[in-house]
Formats: sequence, C-alpha cells, structure tokens
Amino acid sequence: MILKGQRCILKPLEVSDAKELSKYINDEQLKEYLSNVFPFNTFMEEELIRRVSQKSNEVYFSIEVNNTVVGTTVLYEIDYISRKSEFGVAIYNKEYWNKGIGSEVLKLMLKYGFEILGINRIMLRAFEENKRMIAVAEKFGFVFEGRERQGRIFKGKSSDIIIMSLLADDYWRNFS
Ligand SMILES: CC(C)(COP(=O)(O)OP(=O)(O)OC[C@H]1O[C@@H](n2cnc3c(N)ncnc32)[C@H](O)[C@@H]1OP(=O)(O)O)[C@@H](O)C(=O)NCCC(=O)NCCS
Repeated sequence: MILKGQRCILKPLEVSDAKELSKYINDEQLKEYLSNVFPFNTFMEEELIRRVSQKSNEVYFSIEVNNTVVGTTVLYEIDYISRKSEFGVAIYNKEYWNKGIGSEVLKLMLKYGFEILGINRIMLRAFEENKRMIAVAEKFGFVFEGRERQGRIFKGKSSDIIIMSLLADDYWRNFS
C-alpha cells in the first residue's frame, strides 16, 4: 500500500532504502531524539529492515520526498485484540525538518491506522525536549497521558519520556 500526501509519499520500506537512510542515521542532532544511540552502518540498517519486515505486528513505511527517501514511519506493537498500537517517525535528513512533512506523515498514518486497520488507540512516546514531535502530536489531538520520569539518560543528562495518545472516537469526531 502507498499513502500519498501533498508533501510526501509513504511506501513499503525496502532494504534498498538503507543506503540513503544510513547517510544520516549517525547525525548527532538526530540521535538526540531517537532511542538508538549506537553507531549504525548500511549493513545494520539493512538487517533492521529485514527483521521488521518479518513481523506481523509492525508496519513500516519509507517517507519519500521528491523521489528521495528521507525517513521512516511505523505503527508498531500492534495489538489485534485490544486494537492498539504505537506510532513512530523519524525524518533522518534534518534538512527536511520543520517543513510540515512530519505533520503530514502523522495525518497519513492516523488515517491508515484508524480507518484501514481499525485501531482504537494510538500512542506515542517522545523525549520531553522533543518540542517538535510534541507540537505535531498535539495538533492532531493527542493528549498527554503521563511521563516516564528520567526514562532516558543521554550524554549524562536525564530527561522524562512523554506519553501521549489519540483514541479512535476523538479521531473520528475531529479529523475524519
Ligand atoms: C519530529 C518530526 C517527525 C517532526 O516533523 P517535522 O516535519 O519536522 O514537523 P512539522 O514541520 O510538520 O511540524 C513541526 C511543528 O513543531 C513546531 N515547533 C518547532 N519547533 C518548536 C519548538 N521549539 N517548540 C514548540 N513547537 C515547535 C512547529 O511550529 C510546527 O508546528 P505548526 O505546524 O503548528 O507550526 C521531525 O522533526 C523528526 O523526524 N525529527 C527527528 C526524529 C524525531 O524526533 N522523531 C520522533 C521521535 S518520538
């Protein structure tokens, strides 16, 4: 399935996307916002894509802008009984931050999750300093649920992990 927006297109993630993505994955600023802090190379990125593609409770897409892969997005830990999932997104190439792409990705993934998969609850976790992610989530009606206190320590500094969620009822009321 391909999800088309005005700014980006979401396509099934391919192993061949690893090469472009691994150009940016070690960027210091990007690492500030992601939980995997270890150095990554193309082989590791390829293996990760192979691994996630075999899981039946995770659905990954590449984020493509002007025919170039700039990041990935995912609904993971899909629970088919409680119909819930967690959302993730990373625009690896920071030249594409703050251009409305992340907002469009979330919009497309909410549509996919709620309208196609029939999910009832989508959650996300963001480090408290990730104001951009939190602003994007709030824009789509995600509500603050709590914080994992000092859930992250990076470069010797601890920060809380913010937990937010959106329920299908609120999605259908506000955005469908
Ligand atoms: C988080 C991310 C997906 C957001 O996507 P994006 O394309 O940069 O975001 P957008 O341009 O769609 O929207 C950013 C919003 O944040 C707001 N914003 C930016 N800096 C801000 C700040 N310091 N404080 C508050 N709001 C801020 C912008 O005003 C904008 O809101 P608006 O559209 O209402 O004006 C993207 O920046 C990214 O991938 N970052 C690195 C990886 C990451 O953080 N992933 C998420 C892990 S939970």
